Amino acid sequence: MPRYRYPVISESEVTPKVVFENRRHFLRQGFAIGAAAALAPGMLLPKDAYAWADVLKPVLQTDLPSQELAGGEAFTDFRDATTYNNFYEFGTGKRDPEVFAHNLPVDPWSITLEGELDKTGAIPLEDILKRYSLEERIYRLRCVEAWSMVIPWVGFPLADLLNYHGLTSKSNYVEFESLYDPDNLRGQRRSIIDWPYREALRVDEAMHPLTLLAVGMYGEKMPNQNGAPIRLVVPWKYGFKSIKSITKIRVLEEQPTTSWQARNPEEYGFYGNVNPEVDHPRWSQARERRIGESGRRETLMFNGYSEEVAHLYEGMDLHQYY
Ligand code: MTE
Repeated sequence: MPRYRYPVISESEVTPKVVFENRRHFLRQGFAIGAAAALAPGMLLPKDAYAWADVLKPVLQTDLPSQELAGGEAFTDFRDATTYNNFYEFGTGKRDPEVFAHNLPVDPWSITLEGELDKTGAIPLEDILKRYSLEERIYRLRCVEAWSMVIPWVGFPLADLLNYHGLTSKSNYVEFESLYDPDNLRGQRRSIIDWPYREALRVDEAMHPLTLLAVGMYGEKMPNQNGAPIRLVVPWKYGFKSIKSITKIRVLEEQPTTSWQARNPEEYGFYGNVNPEVDHPRWSQARERRIGESGRRETLMFNGYSEEVAHLYEGMDLHQYY
């Protein structure tokens, strides 16, 4: 018997509600090191004492999730999820991230918060992690290339971070930037896209409880090839919106242009919502291949999360705003 049961997830039912129940009760655990450091600001502690990996470790020391999901969907095999990736900073081949992502310099890591926020500045990742409860959530990731996976992510809602930093009255959009480091990220030596990788959400999308900043998957810290140490996961949107290795979060009044829009506005819109009725100019989006399965399955509107997110787009022509 597994220690805990996974919630029933059928094709028609949407995952998040049920997995919200904090199975792994990743509650704030006191984080003694952080508290001690706060009491002694002038004291020099070894660098490791502040490293984000040390903060994550106790949280991630839990049972590995069971492969079986009662009622239907199983997790994608961990190996598939870590060897078949899109991370153009390491090349455009699906295997490139696995082969080259050891070059991603992940420690130390900080995120710079800018723009329409009450509190801005560069925050070490370990300080960010100490503030929030981490949860495990099972989300589908659907790539624009018509494949999909089901992954148990570990993270916290982006809304928690934005609330902590305080959105101003001019906060309409949230823009994200990935690490720019062409010395280590070989893909950035070629202008495949306009580096650094930039993505953005409308602020109501960013504040939606499904939108996750993920720092782990399958009970482990985020593998480099999947966007260590911290990435976005927006489960109702195509995978390109789920930006990896985030170094900057900028809140804006005006809608920014994303890297994919800049590269090819005909093929990639600002919204990137999974929509079986709006085809990519070069291929259909009506069906998808679940990695690890043979055959194809029907793609669901908003990747199966309609109940939660359809209201965000009420009255919008989704053929125009793709
Ligand atoms: N983030 C960065 N920085 N660079 C990328 O090339 N690729 C995106 C997204 N995030 C990408 C990125 C695309 S197209 C997809 S489908 C997902 O990451 C893939 O995530 P995975 O490799 O963890 O499955």
